[in-house]
Amino acid sequence: MKWFLLLIVSISAVFASPDWDSFKEKHHKIYKNEKEENYRKQIFLKNLKVIEEHNEKYAQGLSTYSVGVNNLADLTHEEIVFWSQGSSRRNLSVGSSPIPKFIPRDDVPESIDWRDYGVVTPIANQERCMSCWAFAIVATVESHVAIYEGRNVSLSVQNLVDCVDPTFDCMQDLDPKALDNTYQYIIDNDGIDLIESYPNEYQTVGSCRFKRENVGATIKAYANITEGDEEELKAVVGTVGPVTVTFTTDFAWDFYHKGVYYNDDCMNTDEIFNHAAVVVGYGNEDGEDYWLVKNSWGTYFGQDGYIKMARNRDNNCGIASRARYPFM
Ligand SMILES: *[C@@H]1O[C@H](CO)[C@@H](O)[C@H](O)[C@H]1NC(C)=O
Ligand SMILES: *[C@@H]1O[C@H](CO)[C@@H](O)[C@H](O)[C@H]1NC(C)=O
Ligand SMILES: *[C@@H]1O[C@H](CO)[C@@H](O)[C@H](O)[C@H]1NC(C)=O
Repeated sequence: MKWFLLLIVSISAVFASPDWDSFKEKHHKIYKNEKEENYRKQIFLKNLKVIEEHNEKYAQGLSTYSVGVNNLADLTHEEIVFWSQGSSRRNLSVGSSPIPKFIPRDDVPESIDWRDYGVVTPIANQERCMSCWAFAIVATVESHVAIYEGRNVSLSVQNLVDCVDPTFDCMQDLDPKALDNTYQYIIDNDGIDLIESYPNEYQTVGSCRFKRENVGATIKAYANITEGDEEELKAVVGTVGPVTVTFTTDFAWDFYHKGVYYNDDCMNTDEIFNHAAVVVGYGNEDGEDYWLVKNSWGTYFGQDGYIKMARNRDNNCGIASRARYPFM
């Protein structure tokens, strides 16, 4: 009986949700006025309810992952997606360089975590109205610079936001060409600037202020993973390095806590992707294959900024549908 009680106590401790005041304090939330605060509090309470309902399912073994309150809990899913969406509208010549194609090898490891090699740069925070596609590509290129050139660099997201698409705004769906055009920009432009010389402004400025003397990295080409091919994605992540991916997110994704995220309702066609991030590893946890995904929503998100997403479950949420990686 005692053990039983202890178990109950520890389960509820794991899932103990913060109340409104401690949430506000922890995440330094300041609202314009009481009306605004009440509105945010209602959203928070609604989110809390869904989070708790999901975790009950998790506790009963009906879900492979749990969720929890993070800094986004006073926002609706629409707001979170809206703020994290990016777009790229300008037409750039795509595919003008010779396209290397990775040939999968036999010696692909069963699991890998590129963080173990000291080649994954710290988690960024795109904040409001920023461009997941630019953050994801910068993070990918930073890792490839570390792997292939042995240098630690911080590259400029703002360089991409200003120069790939001068009419960028935050209200677009993730443009299907965002990754291709951005990689092609870095190739055609002969590089991307260092962040020190071109800092993030967390908004669209529109005027391109790239300076050749501040280039921090160049890439020769980029390549596509065959659409939806999780085996090829594994081979590339396992033997080449991190890969930029796009996919769809839902409410539970925003508040992921631990386990392997899987979404029954997710589309795996590439029509409606709303987010981009970086696969920096893969493996198996408690019988579930996963992709280790580096997000750009700060370290309160997921597990210190990372999420494990389902692998080998029919390309769940389209993670292998539009995957791209650079050649140094
Ligand atoms: C982009 O290319 C498409 C198809 O080639 C064309 O219809 C469209 O007008 C172009 N957009 C811009 C902004 O140049
Ligand atoms: C880059 O930084 C990481 C950790 O921040 C460190 O482990 C690694 O040795 C550094 N690499 C180089 C080439 O300086
Ligand atoms: C990747 O695929 C996109 C969409 O099919 C295509 O436009 C682009 O040229 C491809 N890029 C490479 C390097 O193959």
